[in-house]
Amino acid sequence: MDLLQNMLLRAQANPQRIVLPEGTEIRTLMAANQILGVHAAEIILIGAPEEIKHLATENGLRNIDKATLVDPKNHEKKELYTNLLVDLRKSKGMTLEQASIQVEDPLFLACLMIKNGDADGEVAGARNTTGNVLRPAFQIVKTLPGISVVSGAFLMFLKNKSYGENGLMVFADCAVHPNPTAPELAQIAISTAQTARNIAGFEPRVAMLSFSTKGSAKHEMVDKVVEATRIAQEMEPTLQIDGELQADAALVPDVAASKAPGSTVAGRANVLVFPTLETGNIAYKLVQRLADAEAVGPILQGMAAPINDLSRGCSVDDVYKMVIITSNQAISIKK
Ligand code: ACO
Repeated sequence: MDLLQNMLLRAQANPQRIVLPEGTEIRTLMAANQILGVHAAEIILIGAPEEIKHLATENGLRNIDKATLVDPKNHEKKELYTNLLVDLRKSKGMTLEQASIQVEDPLFLACLMIKNGDADGEVAGARNTTGNVLRPAFQIVKTLPGISVVSGAFLMFLKNKSYGENGLMVFADCAVHPNPTAPELAQIAISTAQTARNIAGFEPRVAMLSFSTKGSAKHEMVDKVVEATRIAQEMEPTLQIDGELQADAALVPDVAASKAPGSTVAGRANVLVFPTLETGNIAYKLVQRLADAEAVGPILQGMAAPINDLSRGCSVDDVYKMVIITSNQAISIKK
């Protein structure tokens, strides 16, 4: 995959500090060993240092020597992070006592490191659920200016190269926000366009999907997509975006010519934005299975610093790729 090779080169040229809170998880440790071997990032592993060192020795992971190990129960910045957590969450009733317990949770600690400028990005989820990875990120790292909703995109590498950008498309939201409002859906479209530019490396043509094309059906669900398209256009007037479009009108030039004539996006969309998480999650899995596409993600977007969630069934290669993607997101956000 050329795209991943390019991302690797970009990461190697500007190594980011990536924190892995599941430092004693073996696939995570193996991926960290590979990343350190190719100098693609500086790795911070959270976990009991003796356990990490033992696992590394037992599995011949020599590069782990180059990682920074942070013991969540005992490290020099524990008090500083505890106070930071109280500061960030006191309006939600966080006490010093609660914070001093939560700060030892590796998933909270990783986010506090990012918030304090001690790490640039995080990858977790080989051992933890999506909700457990995301909640501290939402509470501590929060969203980018102008964005209030985090969403999850997939890079879809299709066998049929006539779709998208030579077979590459970006789908969202497939992972996070169950039922976005129109303004939230507009933000998801803007964030996904950024992911297309920064990670997929192409200029986005965004289709806002629905079961209706240009007024062919009347329903409040259609109205939401029309309104989201209008808001997204207002947020970024130069963005090529159109909706509401059905999937065939978004993808197939002949259908676009009859259902959405004059649209610059219809028939040639390379970014698909789904109206709900249900539709996005089902769609990416169907395309992955029925069309034998490779799905890379979810890539979380809209966060003030990149934090990515793995599936608990992930492979070492999945973790490795996600660290490289996260590094690329960190480089883009800093720019
Ligand atoms: N973007 C930004 N902030 C958010 C978002 C969001 N999408 N969702 C919740 N938050 C914030 C809230 O504002 C709140 O912040 P606050 O405490 O400062 O007020 C905090 O996060 C907690 O909010 P809750 O509403 O309590 O969120 P909850 O923890 O219940 O749910 C979660 C968040 C876990 C992400 C939920 O939306 C969820 O379960 N989503 C589906 C995830 C999933 O299962 N995806 C499918 C599997 S992934 C796959 O197949 C690839």
